[in-house]
Amino acid sequence: MDQYVIKGGSPLFGEVTIGGAKNSALGILAATTLTEETVTVNNVPNIKDIDYLLLALEEIGAKVDRKDSHTVRINAKGISPLSLDNEYLRKIRGSYYLIGALLGRFKKAQVVLPGGCNIGNRPIDQHIKGFEKLGAKVEIKHGMVMAEAVELRGNHIFLDVVSVGATINIMLAAVLAKGQTIIENVAKEPHVVDVANFLNSMGANIKGAGTDVIRIHGVDKLHGSTYSVIPDQIEAGTFMIAAAATHGDVVIDNVIPKHLEAISAKLVEMGVGVEEKDDAVHVFCRERTGNTHIKTMPYPGFPTDLQPQMTMLLALSMGTSVITESIFEARFKYVDELVRMGASIKVDGNTAVVDGVESLTGATVFASDLRAGAALVIAGLTAEGVTVVENIEYVERGYEGFEEKLTQLGGIIKKMDSEDEKALRKFKMKVS
Ligand code: EPZ
Repeated sequence: MDQYVIKGGSPLFGEVTIGGAKNSALGILAATTLTEETVTVNNVPNIKDIDYLLLALEEIGAKVDRKDSHTVRINAKGISPLSLDNEYLRKIRGSYYLIGALLGRFKKAQVVLPGGCNIGNRPIDQHIKGFEKLGAKVEIKHGMVMAEAVELRGNHIFLDVVSVGATINIMLAAVLAKGQTIIENVAKEPHVVDVANFLNSMGANIKGAGTDVIRIHGVDKLHGSTYSVIPDQIEAGTFMIAAAATHGDVVIDNVIPKHLEAISAKLVEMGVGVEEKDDAVHVFCRERTGNTHIKTMPYPGFPTDLQPQMTMLLALSMGTSVITESIFEARFKYVDELVRMGASIKVDGNTAVVDGVESLTGATVFASDLRAGAALVIAGLTAEGVTVVENIEYVERGYEGFEEKLTQLGGIIKKMDSEDEKALRKFKMKVS
């Protein structure tokens, strides 16, 4: 197992370039199976979740050609809806998009139930509701989702909860269905819009993505396309918070500032400097931030995927802050790890009350999921002494070259083998 070893106290300075959005690329790559023609996808993040999905596409017969680490060319002409069950798909949440895409293309899909971060019970009832409204019969048997339809016909679907995955998955199943599909109470995240734009670039007829109602007119077939994934809003927000937490000065390049408005507004409220440019944000912070209150909400509200990172920043802010996690039931597991570093945080159900402290101290901490891991890394960059973050495979699933980018900004962080005590001692000697 690998770990990050971090020496705290170095403010982050310089420029960092944001990669393609993980949660958009997963939907887009699954959607390439909806056509027999070749699709080229650019700005794909080079992370493990993408590797796992591409391996699964190859397993069902797609030709996958990684032109370079950020460009994938896929031809899914020869695929068949074999039952898809492998160790990779069981690890990632994004595997559920193969259900909608294969159902949409073949009227049949058999895919292992998705995995994903351990932040709540992660049901897929709304995905299934959508598939059934389109005319599919869906069963869950032996850990697999088995969906089949004689014909898929457009329908009027009202989602009970705002769900990113269900919104995208129902779009994937509906683009080739007969007639019109209206989906209400949909997610409006940038990556939902990106997947809809990609499908339209293949000849789909989708209107309203990014609003509360999406209208889809089914078409007979989709054609090939060349498309570029939008920048990752959550990676960008993570680096914005890291710049503020380390009292640094960082220009975050290749972003869409509009997608970051909720984060920028909160950082400004806390006294952090945020300057928006055309495709970059400049974040700088000289002194201890003030407190604020956060409630995670579907886009355009404050994103749940930045809740751990922001809670970590608030742990060092002046005064008391309250964070309410309204999307997932179990997304405060990392708080115990921050308390181990000296944070003063009390969690009660889906609310955390944070009494800001002057500083944190380095410790060995354990990442419980992708964004929690990122928050613990940022905590280590601010802490006195050395922090070891274990279970970093979570972080590598969603952040490309995380330690390289942080090192380039002046952070002292190194990926090491957890078993190599000697190397750890050597690093600690070198940095202390
Ligand atoms: C996606 O997960 C993202 N993952 C998550 O990012 C992100 O936190 C989440 O959207 C919210 O933005 C991917 O895109 C691969 P949801 P997803 O369906 O689709 C409930 C990361 O760190 N719900 O929007 O699983 C659900 O329990 C990951 O990159 C149902 O009740 O999220 C939750 O409370 C973590 N029934 C709420 O809706 C369903 O059928 C939102 O979930 C589906 C969801």
